[in-house]
Amino acid sequence: MVKTSAPGKMMFFGEHAAVYGIPCIAFAVNQRLYCSINKRKDKRIIFNFPDIGLMDYEYTGSSEDKRVKFIEAAIKNTVGDKISDFGFEVETRSEMKKGVGTSSACVVAMVAALNEFFKLGLNREQMFGICYKTVLDVQGKGSGYDVATSLYGGFVKYTKGQLPIPMDCPAKLHLVMGHTNIKADTVSLINQVAEKKQKFPHFYEEIFRLTENCVLEAENRIKIGDLEGLADMMNFVHGILNGMGVSHPKLEELIFASRNAGALGAKLSGAGGGDCMIALASDTTVKAIMAEIEKKGGAPFEVRVDEGVRIEDI
Ligand code: MEV
Repeated sequence: MVKTSAPGKMMFFGEHAAVYGIPCIAFAVNQRLYCSINKRKDKRIIFNFPDIGLMDYEYTGSSEDKRVKFIEAAIKNTVGDKISDFGFEVETRSEMKKGVGTSSACVVAMVAALNEFFKLGLNREQMFGICYKTVLDVQGKGSGYDVATSLYGGFVKYTKGQLPIPMDCPAKLHLVMGHTNIKADTVSLINQVAEKKQKFPHFYEEIFRLTENCVLEAENRIKIGDLEGLADMMNFVHGILNGMGVSHPKLEELIFASRNAGALGAKLSGAGGGDCMIALASDTTVKAIMAEIEKKGGAPFEVRVDEGVRIEDI
């Protein structure tokens, strides 16, 4: 038996611009997805995902279920042609709240589990390549920051097409995530930005340049532990994202409620259009920010930065 776990992720700086090769900063959050593989005597590949009510489901390579699709693509990309030589059972269990990237954690935990189970000897860089290919095979679009962050853990600076760079964060950050309870579709939002970019290429050149400056400034502020400067960058980059048309009235409500409750900074996190926001609090304002988010109909929780993928059991 092999058991791995991978964390969720949150985008901190650089969403959307990341798709066009602008660096971004993201971090792994302390909500994990666990994946175990057990050998079978026959050659069947069976999935048990009790937390989504999917049991005893046999591998077809063409499922419509989202989690199965990611797992099947991860198996294909990791084990390749040898797939029919082996029989095994995959079980996933998630402790993740919505909005922190169950799919990417699934892919990362699965690839790491296959690496151990089949003794493939893949290093982290090779696993990253497989994970990113898997995301593109299933979703078609994305910068790959999500699997990069879940794999490497901690704070990560990431530029599409390059390996993630782990970042030190000496200061203790108090971070509150607020989910709008509105589901957004990442690929539609990426497409929406692409259309606008095509219509106004020069504006988007400027927008992405400004975003990159925010990312680099945020990186400096993180390194020297200047939380107020970091918060300024969060507010600034949120304004840019709003200008790009990817915010949502509910996101604005939760962001302003957080700021009014004492957040140093707050911004949307991820593709926008709903989903979630993130606020930088101080140790004395976490509770007030969470209460305000809840009052406005959002789902708040405190997030801590966590380590990347790990082997739980062999
Ligand atoms: C979505 O979480 C963030 C985007 O930048 C897409 C990506 O980078 O893969 C919109």
